[in-house]
Amino acid sequence: MSSITSGAPVSAAAPVASGATPSQVLPQPAERRSTTTDRQETPRRYLMCPPAHFEVSYAINPWMDPAAPVSRERALDQWHALRRVYEGLGHRVEVIDPVEGLPDMVFAANSGTVVGGRVLGARFRSAERADEAAHYRRWFEANGYADVTMPVHVNEAEGDLTWTGRLLLAGTGFRTELAAHAEAQEALGVPVVSLRLVDPRLYHLDTALFVLDDQGPDPLIAYYPPAFSPGSRQVLERLFPDAVIADDTDARCLGLNGVSDGRHVVLPLEATNLAARVALRGFDPVLVDVSELRKAGGGPKCCTMELRD
Ligand code: ARG
Repeated sequence: MSSITSGAPVSAAAPVASGATPSQVLPQPAERRSTTTDRQETPRRYLMCPPAHFEVSYAINPWMDPAAPVSRERALDQWHALRRVYEGLGHRVEVIDPVEGLPDMVFAANSGTVVGGRVLGARFRSAERADEAAHYRRWFEANGYADVTMPVHVNEAEGDLTWTGRLLLAGTGFRTELAAHAEAQEALGVPVVSLRLVDPRLYHLDTALFVLDDQGPDPLIAYYPPAFSPGSRQVLERLFPDAVIADDTDARCLGLNGVSDGRHVVLPLEATNLAARVALRGFDPVLVDVSELRKAGGGPKCCTMELRD
């Protein structure tokens, strides 16, 4: 757990339930929600890939230990529960066929960034994941996306590229190359802000930051400051003075790997401090068990590519 230092937990009084089925997580009684802001969800479309060939057979991030036991069955159960949570919230889930020999293909977020119907595919840093990009490219082409660009530079898609509704926040330092940020700006036609990641356990931007509200005039994000270089922290403070700040406890369980629809915030169930903080801002946390998927270094967001058509 090297670089993530420990900290005192804040009291977690979030109205949450662990996410096995939508009936367990919904509905949250209105009177238990914060009334500070009236949060409004918008319907989403997600692309997911079942972990039918899941295993940890190589190590490309500090979470992965090929010697540790992994249950594919539990990974599948957790994935199906996550899918049911999204569908229970009224979102549409598209599914891409998993491919044998590509155990990380479950992490759909890494294979495409879709903004305004334009697609920027992926180019993986590691040889082990390289072939995933073409499978997702074919899915986009078979599913009506006419504008698909495949990147020249290493680009792990929504793992490192986060659309706030106004800007594309772009991480670098471990996976996605800085040159890929300029490429993303050209391909997607959106302004890009580069951010440098410094903690090897938080190797993708989506392990250190996520968007809570992408609809309003001022996007709202949550992030873990120690994951970023000093300059990047200053950029985040300037752009998002109102952000929800996560703590070490949140970061240690990959709690920043969240998915928000503007009201419901899907988080790993150990992220109780973060759940309490987002609840104080008027969101409804929905906690899911991703313990098996975390053995590969992933969480709810990693399993979820948003199709912004
Ligand atoms: N084992 C995968 C890797 O190291 C995990 C990817 C997690 N995905 C994410 N969006 N952070 O590439």
